[in-house]
Amino acid sequence: MKKVLIGIGGLLALAILALVVKFFVLSPVVRAAPDVHAPTSAEAIARGKYLADHVAQCTTCHSTVDEKVPGDVVVEAKRGAGRMYPKEAGFPGNIRALNLTPDKETGIGSWTDGEVLRAMREGIGRDGRALFPLMPYQNFANLTDEDALAIIAYLRSLPAIKNDPGPATQIDFPVSMFIRAAPKPVEAPPPPPPADPVGRGLWLIQMESCGMCHDTMDSRHQPIEGKHLAGGQEFKIAAGTVYASNITSDKSTGIGAYTDEELLKVLNEGVTKNGRPLYLMPWAALKGLTDDDKRAIVAALRTIPPVNNTVPASAIR
Ligand code: HEC
Ligand code: HEC
Repeated sequence: MKKVLIGIGGLLALAILALVVKFFVLSPVVRAAPDVHAPTSAEAIARGKYLADHVAQCTTCHSTVDEKVPGDVVVEAKRGAGRMYPKEAGFPGNIRALNLTPDKETGIGSWTDGEVLRAMREGIGRDGRALFPLMPYQNFANLTDEDALAIIAYLRSLPAIKNDPGPATQIDFPVSMFIRAAPKPVEAPPPPPPADPVGRGLWLIQMESCGMCHDTMDSRHQPIEGKHLAGGQEFKIAAGTVYASNITSDKSTGIGAYTDEELLKVLNEGVTKNGRPLYLMPWAALKGLTDDDKRAIVAALRTIPPVNNTVPASAIR
């Protein structure tokens, strides 16, 4: 009996040691911030603005939005100046999406371009910590150097706003441990996005992080395999409780029965087929996409395999 207990104790100690090694010694995988310099041309800034405001949505997540109006509409005077994602809203801790304007104290004014690039694509904070993956760095790992540096060029061109949205990020255990294993250096240059509409649309869907809200998640908030974009996540916001729609091509529970024009209306006006305004869905940013990019998203949505999944109706107060 004693031997068995010692055996179990030994195994437990080994298991704990393995966890410590995996999550604390070997993680996060951090490399020095690369020595890069963002361009300063008007052309690069314009390209970065399109990407940051409408494609990668940097300035949707990193800005205060008015939750009472539909569309995740950014408070324009504070564009890019940071936002808190508090524990009360269901996050595993208090998460601060930093002020991305060039203010030296509260923003990224004193960061190097390489530090911003590393945070964006590799998920590493300035101090070497692993970022909470609500920051979609795993998606941004697919941004080319040119696109990523254009985004930084645009951020550098924003008016510096002195604004600290709240205290530094504090993630609860054990989530704080698990997230340490996710960051990966981006060493080979990511390829440019495909040029054909469906390929570009799939790239846009990844950059827009549609799946972060529309994927069906398990109880640990991990996407369930085979349920990409099948909806059902619940969000409690100031305006009520909303559920992310099933946007697979299923005809009865997804958007398979929507016409292209109806889908374009979602992206342009933020209303369902029946004309109901959509909350949380960031259409205010999406409507700024070019017509070609919107049509590419629609074409790509048509290729998402149908998943039959009925989502509860959103309840707006
Ligand atoms: C879906 C929401 C979301 C999007 C989109 C997003 N971010 Fe973030 N970002 C966050 C959150 C939340 C954090 C805080 C993570 C943490 O502190 O662990 C963060 C952290 C960061 C950090 C690190 C700040 C620090 O405290 O060290 C940088 C830099 C950053 N984001 C830049 C960007 C850029 C550039 C883009 C667009 C390419 C972008 N983000 C898009 C949510 C987002
Ligand atoms: C921040 C979370 C979030 C992101 C990111 C997001 N959505 Fe949504 N979306 C929602 C929510 C929530 C709803 C339902 C809102 C409601 O019921 O008021 C919705 C509704 C929709 C609808 C309407 C379907 C219907 O029921 O009529 C479509 C289409 C859609 N989203 C497509 C997309 C696409 C495509 C992307 C990426 C380009 C995207 N969404 C990104 C949260 C999000």
